[in-house]
Amino acid sequence: MQILVTGGAGFIGGHLAESFLADGHDVTVLDNLEPFYTKGLKRHTLEVHREIAAGRDVDYQFVKDDVRDPDIVQELVADADVVVHQAAQAGVRESVDNPRKVTEINVSETVNLLEASKEADVERVILASSSSVYGKPKSLPYEEDHPTEPVSHYGVTKLTQEHMARVYTELHDLPTVCLRYFTVYGPQMRPNMVISNFVSRCMNGEPPVIYGDGQQTRDFTYVADVVDSNRTLLESDAADGDVLSIRSSDNISIQKLAETVRDQLAPELEIVYESAREADAEHTRASAEKAGELIGCEPLRTITEGVGEFIEWYQANREWYEPLVRSSISRESRSSGLSQRRRWRPCTY
Ligand SMILES: NC(=O)c1ccc[n+]([C@@H]2O[C@H](COP(=O)([O-])OP(=O)(O)OC[C@H]3O[C@@H](n4cnc5c(N)ncnc54)[C@H](O)[C@@H]3O)[C@@H](O)[C@H]2O)c1
Repeated sequence: MQILVTGGAGFIGGHLAESFLADGHDVTVLDNLEPFYTKGLKRHTLEVHREIAAGRDVDYQFVKDDVRDPDIVQELVADADVVVHQAAQAGVRESVDNPRKVTEINVSETVNLLEASKEADVERVILASSSSVYGKPKSLPYEEDHPTEPVSHYGVTKLTQEHMARVYTELHDLPTVCLRYFTVYGPQMRPNMVISNFVSRCMNGEPPVIYGDGQQTRDFTYVADVVDSNRTLLESDAADGDVLSIRSSDNISIQKLAETVRDQLAPELEIVYESAREADAEHTRASAEKAGELIGCEPLRTITEGVGEFIEWYQANREWYEPLVRSSISRESRSSGLSQRRRWRPCTY
């Protein structure tokens, strides 16, 4: 199968491309290497792809270009059997600071991609959506039909993307599936994510810092669970035209996350608390029932296993990964004198 992965140099797209290559598929990655956090991490991701492809009888191509360019998108989609769309300006906080950019990227590029996929008659488009589409919970866990009232610009763009996909399925018979991800973590995650921040601090004898009282809860989703659902959907039409939530097995508080990381690395450290951020949902919790029923994907990984695997990977890759995380942490410290609205914070989704 020929698969186009947009945003394939990023965290989740990188893992997806890696697993598709390992399964023997031909993969094209389209990514503009957006300098949102760091290019170093993306270069490493692309090297991993090349290494995997070199050992197998598969075609691998990296195209450094922009998903907003309709010509390049049309050309690449024309060769694809399935399109896996991960490219986005990700991050709630950044969208609040720069709403025009997040709208331009997340909405325009999706229309380009769906339009080209319709023309090329691709078998399926799988799109990355987000728990941010829900906003404040009316009930938990979020079933897929829970009201959607996003509380950030990012959430609005992801919801718009879902509606675009639905309209292309209904009007043009283009099979699409949107997967709502809940705070994904794992090897090669963006260095400004809360888990990499906690791990780095604890490894360096610094206490984890929690914004708020730590009682915000999240479905931290290990990236392997996200990969499983995308791999299943390559071959399954059971969720065409639908939206599915994807999660791992634990719903935990930021407090519990800090303790899980701290206890594995530096049990003697005391956790530190600072004032809460705006635009972050208090609680997110997914129901995995629909994904289980339609495509047979059950949440498999626990937080202790996932964090353990991430720490192992971090230690093996510390030489090049840690400087990226440390530079995020020092930006956080440098900006601590700025107003609350402008202050940089590690990202939790
Ligand atoms: N990581 C999470 O916890 C999480 C949670 C919910 C949803 N998501 C969604 O999953 C997807 C992947 O997220 P991620 O964490 O891997 O993010 P990421 O930032 O690591 O990856 C996104 C990739 O898209 C690329 N990109 C951005 N704009 C582009 C453009 N205009 N043209 C081409 N490439 C472009 C970037 O260079 C980057 O490599 C995103 O759509 C995100 O909104 C992620």
